[in-house]
Amino acid sequence: RRVAILISGGGSNMAALLESMTGDHPARPVLVLSNDPAAGGLALARAAGVPTAAVDHRPFGRDRAAFEADLSAHLDRAAPDILCLAGFMRVLTAGFVGRHAGRMLNIHPSLLPKYPGLNTHARALEAGDTQAGCTVHEVIADLDAGPVLGQARVPVLPDDTPDRLAARVLPWEHRLYPAVLRRFAAGDRTPVLLP
Ligand code: GRF
Repeated sequence: RRVAILISGGGSNMAALLESMTGDHPARPVLVLSNDPAAGGLALARAAGVPTAAVDHRPFGRDRAAFEADLSAHLDRAAPDILCLAGFMRVLTAGFVGRHAGRMLNIHPSLLPKYPGLNTHARALEAGDTQAGCTVHEVIADLDAGPVLGQARVPVLPDDTPDRLAARVLPWEHRLYPAVLRRFAAGDRTPVLLP
C-alpha cells in the first residue's frame, strides 16, 4: 500500500510512521506533503529519501478549494492508497475528505470523542480528568469525529500542566499511529488500544 503523510510542523508523528514502514510492513511512504514550505518535517522526510512537496496555504486566503486543488495535484501524482494526517493543522473541506473517504487517518491528542479541536490537554486538565491520551481515527467531514481506529491512555498527574501532559502523550502517539497504520494497511480495522 502507498502512503502519503500530510504535515504542518515538526513531523514527529510522520517520523515515527516513516521509521515503522520497513521490512515486511504492508505499506511504503510515497509522499510527505505540507501546507508550510518551512515545516521541519520536510527535511526529515528528505533525509529519509521520501519525496516531498509543499503548498503554502497562505496565498490562497479563504479559498480552501483552490488550496486543496494544489494539494490534490501532488497527491494525484503520488497516487497514495492511504493518507495519514500527522500534525496537519488545516481543516479540510467535505469535498476533499469525500474524495479520500475510508482511506484517510488522523491522530488527535485527546481521548475522542472528548475534546475535538484545539487545546485538548488544557481542556482535560480544566475538566479534572484523571486520564488523557490520543486517538487515531478515520477522517470524515466533521472535525475529529470519524470511527476510532486506536487509542492510547496516560494518567493525568497532580499539578500537571498542558506541556507536561503533552510530553507524556506524545511518545504514545508515536507508538499508536504506526500500530494503527500497520493494521489498517493490512485491511484490519480492529481498534488498537494501548498500553
Ligand atoms: C501532536 O500533538 C499531534 O497529536 C498533533 O500535532 C502535534 C504535533 O505533531 N496533531 P507532530 O510532532 O508535528 O507530528
